[in-house]
Amino acid sequence: MKPKIYVARAVFDDVLARLREHFEVSDNPSDQVGTPAELSARLQGQVGAFITGSERIDAELLDAHPQLKAVCNMAVGYNNIDVPACTARGVIATNTPDVLTETTADFGFALMMATARRIAESEHFLRRGAWTKWSYDMFTGSDIHGATLGVLGMGRIGQAIARRGALGFGMKVIYHNRSRLDAATEADLKASYVDKDMLLREADHLVLVLPYSSASHHAIGAAELALMKPTATLTNIARGGIVDDAALAAALARGQIAAAGLDVFEGEPALNPALLNVPNVVLTPHIASATVATRRAMANLAADNLIAALGFGPNAGRPPTPINSEVLKPTA
Ligand code: DGY
Repeated sequence: MKPKIYVARAVFDDVLARLREHFEVSDNPSDQVGTPAELSARLQGQVGAFITGSERIDAELLDAHPQLKAVCNMAVGYNNIDVPACTARGVIATNTPDVLTETTADFGFALMMATARRIAESEHFLRRGAWTKWSYDMFTGSDIHGATLGVLGMGRIGQAIARRGALGFGMKVIYHNRSRLDAATEADLKASYVDKDMLLREADHLVLVLPYSSASHHAIGAAELALMKPTATLTNIARGGIVDDAALAAALARGQIAAAGLDVFEGEPALNPALLNVPNVVLTPHIASATVATRRAMANLAADNLIAALGFGPNAGRPPTPINSEVLKPTA
């Protein structure tokens, strides 16, 4: 008898077919996001779960399902998983790093540019028939080339954004991160390490690429926004909750900073309604990794992880991208 797994959200048919080669699969073709109680009900008797950021895996859920051996996230961010709780119960947790780095960096750059050059705001103006003449100061924004790019969180995606800024657009790159990069990587990226206050004060365009945790909750709030230049832009492609969205909406409304680009929101898919009432913000629905090729790569990597974690395929017992590898049995 094949082991049972639950695929919590709709996914590519061929990825489901790969999983069915090894497992008895319960899936969710209607793609409804379940409540925690519904998720728990669907995990009855399942030894593996293919999940996304919408599914929360916590101690209570794990205690209700001691048969669960692997939770495999189709996302690089894993703030939806209580990793210490998984580790304490011997449950392997995996994510999908690397395969989305360049795609997500492309989007971060695009959102930053759209924000600085007021692309969404001017398009809305045109669509509502408000364009009657050319004017010298119509939708003037700020330059990207030659400006100072600030990166908060210098992991893989932060580095890919820094590379685009320095090498593609001649930007001066400054960054802040929990740990400083080694000198060779800094030189390669042409990036200088600064403290967080300096980053906020100096950046013309600040991009957030740090993971969400209790330590990064509201890392950008009223006090931080007050340090930024009135001409600066802020782009968040990391996670909702890193920015205090109410404080940001207020700062945008009073012109404390020039504009913001947001792909992620506190409590998404709900939005703070104040963000809908300010014109100088570009809003997108958490799509930074959304190209067909990258979403396919993410789904296949999550499937590879689940197949290997449950002891099948060429990597049996060695999922390619574990988060808590200490749970895995040491190789002989
Ligand atoms: C990720 O991979 O973390 C993206 O934000 C999609 O959830």
